[in-house]
Amino acid sequence: MSAVGLLRCPVCEGTLLAEDARLQCERGHSFDIARQGYVALLAGRSPMVGDTVAMVDARVRFLAAGHYDPIAAAVADLIARLGGHQRRILDIGAGTGFYLSRVLDQLPDAVGIGLDVSKPAARRLARAHERAAAVVADAWQGLPVRDDSMSAVLTVFAPRNAPEIRRVLAPGGAFLVVTPTTRHLRELIGPLGMIGVDEQKDRRLDESLSGDFERVEQVPVEFTMTLHRDEVATLVGMGPSAHHVTPERRAELIELLPEPMSVTASVQLTHYRAAD
Ligand SMILES: C[S@@+](CC[C@H](N)C(=O)[O-])C[C@H]1O[C@@H](n2cnc3c(N)ncnc32)[C@H](O)[C@@H]1O
Ligand SMILES: [Zn+2]
Repeated sequence: MSAVGLLRCPVCEGTLLAEDARLQCERGHSFDIARQGYVALLAGRSPMVGDTVAMVDARVRFLAAGHYDPIAAAVADLIARLGGHQRRILDIGAGTGFYLSRVLDQLPDAVGIGLDVSKPAARRLARAHERAAAVVADAWQGLPVRDDSMSAVLTVFAPRNAPEIRRVLAPGGAFLVVTPTTRHLRELIGPLGMIGVDEQKDRRLDESLSGDFERVEQVPVEFTMTLHRDEVATLVGMGPSAHHVTPERRAELIELLPEPMSVTASVQLTHYRAAD
């Protein structure tokens, strides 16, 4: 099945069919496929903006340099271990499509949907992988995806809407979440005035999913990156702290860092399944 068959109308929840350069439901709700190859499936205006062009560009550069490859490898390995029935993968807050692409490379028969509220991200997503569709949607307003349709849902450093994720997962489906630990980028948090991860995050994640999901396993992924100052600037620029620190101040603080420096990457990859 192509990815279009997995989507649904965000207005009436009906089936969508591809017609010329748009997707349309039986009731005539119609969504243009943008020239850049993504489709916006929004019922109305979303208050969420998502990542900017500059943040997406920074993310592309940082990920292309391979710094987060161990995280992508851990996600792809875990999906591969789940077995051969992984056919339909949804990545929520997919960003540039980096993780979704790695997963699809591992699964030659699978199709993917990369969903993001940011149009700059969706433009990248549309080019990320030949078997991935790019969708602009606000995960908090509901997922424009059919019930019980996905074999795995992925969120990497991205928002999670548990009831909606549960709705779209097929029976036996896997929900994989990557979240930073308190040690993630710890060498940069203080010196650059970045926002750290609070210690309760792991417990809060389980709580926010409880009722809908239970933990199956958790894989810690921790490694050291050697980063030059320009790479630190790129890393900072792709994160949410780009909204809080002026570029001038950030550049001044980065100039005070050792060159190059060791920076810890530390995340948890957690596999959840639907609770009974
Ligand atoms: C920190 S980035 C992570 C991107 C990607 N998963 C990665 O790790 O490279 C978070 C992403 O979530 C998207 N996002 C934020 N709020 C969202 C929402 N309500 N619905 C869908 N995507 C959202 C942002 O636009 C951004 O691309
Ligand atoms: Zn409709």
